[in-house]
Amino acid sequence: MARCMGPGLRYPGSMDRSDPAYRGQSDYSPLLLKLYDPLVLGLAARLVWRCPTSRLVEGYRRHVHDRHLDVGPGTGYFLERAGLADGSRVTILDPNGNVLDHASRRLRHLDVTAVEADVLKPLPVDGPFNSAALHLVIHCLPGPLARKASAVANTAAVLASDGVLFGASVLGRSGPHTRLSRRVLAAFNRRGAFDNLDDTADGLREILAASFQHVDLQTVGSIAIFAAINPRTDHARSRGYPPVDGPG
Ligand SMILES: C[S@@+](CC[C@H](N)C(=O)[O-])C[C@H]1O[C@@H](n2cnc3c(N)ncnc32)[C@H](O)[C@@H]1O
Repeated sequence: MARCMGPGLRYPGSMDRSDPAYRGQSDYSPLLLKLYDPLVLGLAARLVWRCPTSRLVEGYRRHVHDRHLDVGPGTGYFLERAGLADGSRVTILDPNGNVLDHASRRLRHLDVTAVEADVLKPLPVDGPFNSAALHLVIHCLPGPLARKASAVANTAAVLASDGVLFGASVLGRSGPHTRLSRRVLAAFNRRGAFDNLDDTADGLREILAASFQHVDLQTVGSIAIFAAINPRTDHARSRGYPPVDGPG
């Protein structure tokens, strides 16, 4: 499927290496994308983060709708299992072209629009969407949480008034970690693939509540799983979380 962004939308191109968000997306080479499902979703989710992938699939199946925006789709594993009818309209958005190519190939049964863009900047997409996912993405975004709030606000801004944002994110050092998950957390943060040492469940709830009227957040193992409905875009703007670049 061709990479396309809909009529009248600009093509932002690849992310600059000096961008604070660069490290969180740069590891996704074609090789890593081949290994991602068995290693990250098969082994690490259960053994390191203690959150079974089946629990994460359940969240997708509960909240996804036709006309869905998937931010940071990775391999497309969850969208493939989301139970969407063939031909459902899905927009996948990611700064990494390898991710867009891999997920588009896998999701050929859906009507996919692929957009090369950074969720920390205003989203060049044709909304409104009925559902959106930030699934295992927030822990990859550059901290602090105040900057990550732009990703939530930018996504809220393209949702329908009864739309839902759902997803999951690995918690930082104050989260419920084991000795193993603490070591992996530290290693991923040193590498730059994660930037979440200071991410807390309360902090995540707060940035979601700034942009949505209703927020549900649960912790399973070291992962926060959330769903937020009814975007309040005006309120989010007045709280200083406009759909623009985050600080720095
Ligand atoms: C850990 S993977 C999660 C993939 C998938 N959502 C899943 O749950 O398996 C993180 C994804 O977020 C993307 N990502 C990282 N930084 C991003 C950014 N600033 N804007 C949009 N996507 C980003 C990565 O390229 C990758 O596709």
